[in-house]
Amino acid sequence: MSKLRYGMFGGSEDAFIGKVHRIGAGFHHHLEMVAGCFSRDEEKNQSTAQLLSLDQDRVYKTYEEMAAQEAKRSDKMDFVVIVTPNNTHYSASKAFLEAGFHVLCEKPLTFTHEEAKELARIAQQKDLLFGVAYAYQGYAMIPLMRDMIQRGDIGEILTVNSRYIQGWLLNPVFFSPTEAKPWRMIPKYSGISNSVGDIGSHIEYMVRYVTGLHVNRVCAVMDTFGEELDMNTMMHIEYENKVKASYWVSQIAWGKLNDFNIQVFGTEGALEWNQELPDYLLYTKRNEATQKLVRGQEFLPYSSKNYSQLPAGHPEGYHVAFANIYAKFSQAILDHRQGVKDALKVNDVPSVTDGIEGVAFIEAVIDSAKNDGAWKKVAK
Ligand SMILES: NC(=O)c1ccc[n+]([C@@H]2O[C@H](COP(=O)([O-])OP(=O)(O)OC[C@H]3O[C@@H](n4cnc5c(N)ncnc54)[C@H](O)[C@@H]3O)[C@@H](O)[C@H]2O)c1
Repeated sequence: MSKLRYGMFGGSEDAFIGKVHRIGAGFHHHLEMVAGCFSRDEEKNQSTAQLLSLDQDRVYKTYEEMAAQEAKRSDKMDFVVIVTPNNTHYSASKAFLEAGFHVLCEKPLTFTHEEAKELARIAQQKDLLFGVAYAYQGYAMIPLMRDMIQRGDIGEILTVNSRYIQGWLLNPVFFSPTEAKPWRMIPKYSGISNSVGDIGSHIEYMVRYVTGLHVNRVCAVMDTFGEELDMNTMMHIEYENKVKASYWVSQIAWGKLNDFNIQVFGTEGALEWNQELPDYLLYTKRNEATQKLVRGQEFLPYSSKNYSQLPAGHPEGYHVAFANIYAKFSQAILDHRQGVKDALKVNDVPSVTDGIEGVAFIEAVIDSAKNDGAWKKVAK
């Protein structure tokens, strides 16, 4: 397989998701990191680059400099990964696209869905690939869940229930008022939403991915507990086909870590998946006992093997989900080079189109919650 070079914006040594991306990409010997702008703090930028053994002349102070200088090189990076807080996603993506690079950007894609649409327009004009790192889609049991639903294993979908609940913001909100707040709680960095943008965005995308259902309108109530942004939000959902669902996101649910759960109920049975036990999928056929399907087993209704990096029984996890996103995104770039149309779709990579729908969903939820739970349509 041809080597692909990538650069990273954000992801200094002390950051969360940048390192997870590097480990995910590191599963693949054909991917090599060659350039970066890891932090606004120049000392941290340099020390991260040193840890990663980057060439000094490919460590940049700003994304503008990185885009401009990389574009001039004969050995330029093939794509860039954007892992900064939400406030820079739009401007940095735009700069890298305009300089001619494929982009893989973190979610939520932008502050507004109009910004996300503009990025989609630029990517299309320039014939560049724009992926969005909805990384939970990379878990091996997720394509299986989607395929089982598509082939009718649970019949017609009647309703969906999903939650993504955490407890880590209880302390900053209620017990450490003088400490610096995490950037996720501050509109300047986070945008119009904290928890709906941060983790509700995963529910919106993942339920849409496994069921094929698009949210038409939402009715939401939220708590900020005196903070500027949402901490706890309950949503009623109506999809375009009128099926109803309920979603709950919270970051003050003490004892909950990354409890992201998806349950889909149909006329012939139900499926349930939980992010904390990602190798399993619970399948309950109507009038039968629940079965626990395990990743990597040959006899599954559809082989999740394609996405397994390890034999069944050796637990996989978060890093492998990212590794699978990198496998698909890099294959999409190689296919695109060969002239394959819609290479992201062909390789099942979450794209800028998904990013637009995600941001429009966040906007509708916040709009509804600010209007006392009035039903709000998701903008198209
Ligand atoms: N897909 C997922 O599962 C997942 C999980 C966590 C975070 N995220 C997303 O990833 C993004 C980053 O989140 P995080 O938790 O890693 O944040 P973080 O605060 O841990 O890391 C942010 C990094 O960006 C750098 N940075 C910020 N502004 C910069 C600038 N102007 N120039 C250069 N570097 C800059 C910081 O130095 C830091 O290295 C967010 O958009 C978040 O929503 C996604």
